[in-house]
Amino acid sequence: MKMRLFVFSALLVSGFPFIITEVVDSFNACKDFFLEGQPPVIPDIILNSVSLDQNRYKLICQKYKEAYRFATLYDIENKIPVFSAYKYTGKGDFKRPRIKWMIESELDPPVAEMTVRTCANQAINEDYSNNTYNVNRGHLFPCCHAADVITAKSTFTLTNTVPQKKSFNELSWSRMEYETKNIMNTCKNNNNKVEAYVLTGAIPGNSKLKDKVNIPSYMWMAFCCYNRSENKWVSQAYWAQNIEEEKSENKIIHKDSLQKLKQFLDETWVRNVQLFKEDCTYE
Ligand SMILES: *[C@@H]1O[C@H](CO)[C@@H](O)[C@H](O)[C@H]1NC(C)=O
Ligand SMILES: *[C@@H]1O[C@H](CO)[C@@H](O)[C@H](O)[C@H]1NC(C)=O
Repeated sequence: MKMRLFVFSALLVSGFPFIITEVVDSFNACKDFFLEGQPPVIPDIILNSVSLDQNRYKLICQKYKEAYRFATLYDIENKIPVFSAYKYTGKGDFKRPRIKWMIESELDPPVAEMTVRTCANQAINEDYSNNTYNVNRGHLFPCCHAADVITAKSTFTLTNTVPQKKSFNELSWSRMEYETKNIMNTCKNNNNKVEAYVLTGAIPGNSKLKDKVNIPSYMWMAFCCYNRSENKWVSQAYWAQNIEEEKSENKIIHKDSLQKLKQFLDETWVRNVQLFKEDCTYE
């Protein structure tokens, strides 16, 4: 059963630019964004590339300008992603694009032609405006990790964002994105090309933006790559609470092993999560 309705292309309906993308039954079509083609295993959420609760967890192969750019597992109940997955291959030479935030047309198909579209299944820009929580749209796949400007543009979809405390987004998380970019630039595959598999996710919290969009309690990130100069697979993980911070405090994001991140996810969210195939421990 394929659910590949191309509802429209990038039309402007009631003011939202839509991304042309694909809600799919399995991540097969965009498995290249996962190490060895294997998406994470998250009990009760995803197993063998397939959503275990198809009314709630939607698999999105993020397609933009005719190509798949990354993959997202989206929770339509909380209206935030569980994770976005992408392959880091070195940042391209471009400036942060100025682009309108897009939404996913297939999550909220129009009821009938010419009706005003309601977005019951996802967050929209208005959900973020004038909020009293001091949150803004935090990218999971950050545009500064994109290989080219088109891919950078593709990250500006609300299915790739969570309500993130502004100061956290702009200070420590942004530093972490910069730091990991430099570390991952040392990940070289056997063809001597920069290559790392990255997962960025959010743990749902207890409050909601506009009574609708869950504000995550934590955000996490992990990468797995081959390090040719050490001739081995390496991984690294980061996580932090989604709370405000001061410029002066220089908040430290937890930086630890993949194993420690799994332990943390066990205690705070879901037990027995597997993020990368064989936990990125190859010989
Ligand atoms: C946000 O607040 C401004 C100023 O208070 C107001 O003009 C605007 O209409 C508000 N926007 C929304 C979407 O509520
Ligand atoms: C890869 O190995 C080099 C040389 O030992 C090291 O400097 C670099 O930090 C390593 N990169 C990663 C991601 O582990």
